[in-house]
Amino acid sequence: MSFILNALQRHSPINYGIALVAYMAVVRFFRYRRINALLKKYPDPTLPLRNLTVAKEIFSTFNDYEFPYLNVVSLEFALFKTYAIPSISKILAASREFNNSCLKRTDDTVFILLEMNEGFSRNLKRTMVEGKVDADEVLNDEKRAEIAIDRLNYIHGHYAIKQEDYLYTLALFMLEPPSFIDQFEWRKSTELEQNALFALWTEQGKAMNIQNIPETKEEMEAWAEEYESKYAVHAPTNGIIADATIALLLSLAPSFTHGFGVQAVSALLTPRLRAAFNIPPPPRGVTTLVRATIRARALFIRYFMLPRRLPHVRTALRANNESKYVPSYHKYKPVYPDGYRIEDLGPTKYLGKCPVSFHPSGITPSSSAKDAETKAL
Ligand SMILES: *[C@@H]1O[C@H](CO)[C@@H](O)[C@H](O)[C@H]1NC(C)=O
Ligand SMILES: *[C@@H]1O[C@H](CO)[C@@H](O)[C@H](O)[C@H]1NC(C)=O
Ligand SMILES: *[C@@H]1O[C@H](CO)[C@@H](O)[C@H](O)[C@H]1NC(C)=O
Repeated sequence: MSFILNALQRHSPINYGIALVAYMAVVRFFRYRRINALLKKYPDPTLPLRNLTVAKEIFSTFNDYEFPYLNVVSLEFALFKTYAIPSISKILAASREFNNSCLKRTDDTVFILLEMNEGFSRNLKRTMVEGKVDADEVLNDEKRAEIAIDRLNYIHGHYAIKQEDYLYTLALFMLEPPSFIDQFEWRKSTELEQNALFALWTEQGKAMNIQNIPETKEEMEAWAEEYESKYAVHAPTNGIIADATIALLLSLAPSFTHGFGVQAVSALLTPRLRAAFNIPPPPRGVTTLVRATIRARALFIRYFMLPRRLPHVRTALRANNESKYVPSYHKYKPVYPDGYRIEDLGPTKYLGKCPVSFHPSGITPSSSAKDAETKAL
């Protein structure tokens, strides 16, 4: 004992060693505290499948506290994977949204999805910051989600999108985040969280009128795997959309890294998807380096970074004085520095043409949208 005290007084390496180990133990304890509390509160991992409120609570923790960064990356990656299906990439290429405004198209997609999904978290954050629940804003959160889903359905209604392509995209939104997180994050996802994601996206899929959503996560997984094995094949439009997306991703990094960046993206793809995009396989060293770097990040987070105190919420907690929602931060060059109206998100040619409805079932596409939908089916 006196040996340790002497060491501490002498600023010896042992001093620093003890402090380091103690700090790591504290971080690890706080890191797991939130998920341990949830697992204790909801011992039955299938509960989120029957109770949407519970699913939202778990999703919010997953998204806003536990994995705020890689969860978003995994959704971007999920979108990217859908471009390997020629019937999807053809529609996107024909819409020219990627040629003219890849960034705007990406932000519009992200903000529509966040408006649909962040209501629970916004209420949580407002309540924490302001010390009380703002009941009017809670109602407005529901309204924002409804406008966003109406907007999504309205825009989709203008394109002849196959039902199966909707379902495949939905499947990736359910399955890609847990798969990414299990490979690359500071802890693995739990069955409780996987079921919450499944329940929540099933609900969104129904609001989008997507047909034949499988009843279980396992069936969804099997269906998506089979669909991908049949339909993820090479087509020129896959490459055009993928290149535009990779260019946007790499716009955040200095240009001398771009060659490596493409190899790093390739390292995260399966051989099937590489073939569909016509992207060459990475040198073996790159795959090892990319995986080791992501793994090192995970360990650093687990042992050195204390968890967040406030939830990570990207959409505005409330509208500004001009009834616009200003995002809390911009990932790329800001598309909406002064905020957006939800009914204006999406292609400029459909600007403000959304038939906004507030009834819960939501979907009221215009007659032209209905025609396109009929064509899609
Ligand atoms: C869902 O769970 C919440 C929170 O535990 C509870 O208040 C609510 O009554 C449950 N709803 C149903 C339909 O069981
Ligand atoms: C988009 O740009 C690519 C190359 O920049 C070009 O090959 C393609 O034809 C363009 N697509 C449309 C729809 O304009
Ligand atoms: C909203 O506030 C900003 C500054 O905070 C001001 O410049 C602007 O004129 C205001 N707009 C309205 C419609 O009141």
